Amino acid sequence: MSVRRSSVQQLLQSQELEREVVVKGWVRTRRGNKYVQFIALNDGSTIHNIQVVADAEKFPEETLKDVATGACLSVRGQLVASQGKGQAVEIQAIEIEVLGTADPEEYPLQKKGHSLEFLREIAHLRPRTNTFGAVLRVRHALAFAVHQYFNDHGFYYVHTPVITGSDAEGAGQMFRVTTLPPEHPPRTADGSVDYKEDFFGKQTNLTVSGQLEAEVAAMALGKVYTFGPTFRAENSNTARHLAEFWMIEPEVAFNDLQDNMDLAEDFLKSLVRQALEKCADDLQFLNDQYDKELLNRLRFVIDNDFQRLTYTEAVEILKVAKQKFEFPVDWGTDLQSEHERYLVEKHFKKPVILTDYPKDIKAFYMKLNDDDHTVRAMDVLFPGIGEIIGGSQREESLEKLRTRMEQMHVEEHELWWYLELRKFGTAPHAGFGLGFERLVLFVTGMANIRDVIPFPRFPKNAEF
Ligand code: 4AD
Ligand code: MG
Repeated sequence: MSVRRSSVQQLLQSQELEREVVVKGWVRTRRGNKYVQFIALNDGSTIHNIQVVADAEKFPEETLKDVATGACLSVRGQLVASQGKGQAVEIQAIEIEVLGTADPEEYPLQKKGHSLEFLREIAHLRPRTNTFGAVLRVRHALAFAVHQYFNDHGFYYVHTPVITGSDAEGAGQMFRVTTLPPEHPPRTADGSVDYKEDFFGKQTNLTVSGQLEAEVAAMALGKVYTFGPTFRAENSNTARHLAEFWMIEPEVAFNDLQDNMDLAEDFLKSLVRQALEKCADDLQFLNDQYDKELLNRLRFVIDNDFQRLTYTEAVEILKVAKQKFEFPVDWGTDLQSEHERYLVEKHFKKPVILTDYPKDIKAFYMKLNDDDHTVRAMDVLFPGIGEIIGGSQREESLEKLRTRMEQMHVEEHELWWYLELRKFGTAPHAGFGLGFERLVLFVTGMANIRDVIPFPRFPKNAEF
């Protein structure tokens, strides 16, 4: 009977030695001498490689010529205690089959220490590096933890549309979705493009947020969340922005701003805790390789209460700050990332939740405070990241919502269904959006958001 394939992770943890095993994976390195060759094999199941030992008697050099960095192998051999240091077990090879060669003259991942910028240009191969293997495993663990958390807390997962007919939320510039021929679109009598002829009979776009549809679901299912791709066409070439990212948006009937903050804090702490638990080896690698403070920072976030204060209080602090800012701070203007990071990294030295922002710099749907100037908004600010979550209590009064929409030039006819939620059985409710890549950025300690998503989309880049 042929032996079934084991993963590298299973073999490295195995207590059952002196048995025949089969492992398949990609060669990271091959080294050795004329008596014995050592092959480091990785199959993605863990950051660690398994060492395959090939005796020269059995495997003369000409049979190993294709066993080069990047090649794919199937190895049958004896799992034994390792003689050398660095690993507990290794495989004494009996049979080595090269499933796929990789010409050393051409394979780009020859040596360690390629720059992250270079690796971005070979996004089809970078998952084979230790760094991206670790990042992708952490990303998976976090996505899984998101669903786990909500499922454990009685939330329902709702799928909100990717193609949207309303461009009213104002969360960002949108990508248009159309099947009209760009060179000669149908025109109306006055010469403008006739979108009635378009696929959906109207202008459509890629969604900038699933929130408005999540509110629909919350007004029936109570506690819901979305977790899906989100698109923003703003031309921001920063280390914190993507044109295509994933957003997690819980929405909860009967929650107020206080409940919303409690949920956001508990949720974030639980995600970081899960990552530390499930990805210990990967995070240790990232800590050692890129950011010696990473693990401390993650534990610190779990162990400490987030600092909560209002926008107005934050402005007071920033105005008397010793630090010189590039952008001035004035009540009524939006905080820049330098201000947010000052509050988090210098002043409070812990995550911060800012609330009650001026209404003019926030979205139309946020609940107006009694002062008539501020809204029940909240932004969660994280060290090294700035804003990781944006959310609010929602305006549940039909009349007040109408007034806000009029003031902010949001067309009622586009959001008639959203208004009807306030007309039929309205309820206080609140929710927020967590940028998934910003979370992965924080947890992995990577510096650029383009390095925490497999295929980043940003201005002038949609390769792969
Ligand atoms: O603050 P934002 O724009 O909030 C909303 O879209 C609300 N509808 C959320 C809600 O209340 N349901 O975006 C939420 C989060 C930000 O805090 C940030 O983490 C992330 O989404 N984000 C981005 N991440 C990567 N690239 C971009 N271009 C992002 N824009 C926002
Ligand atoms: Mg925001």
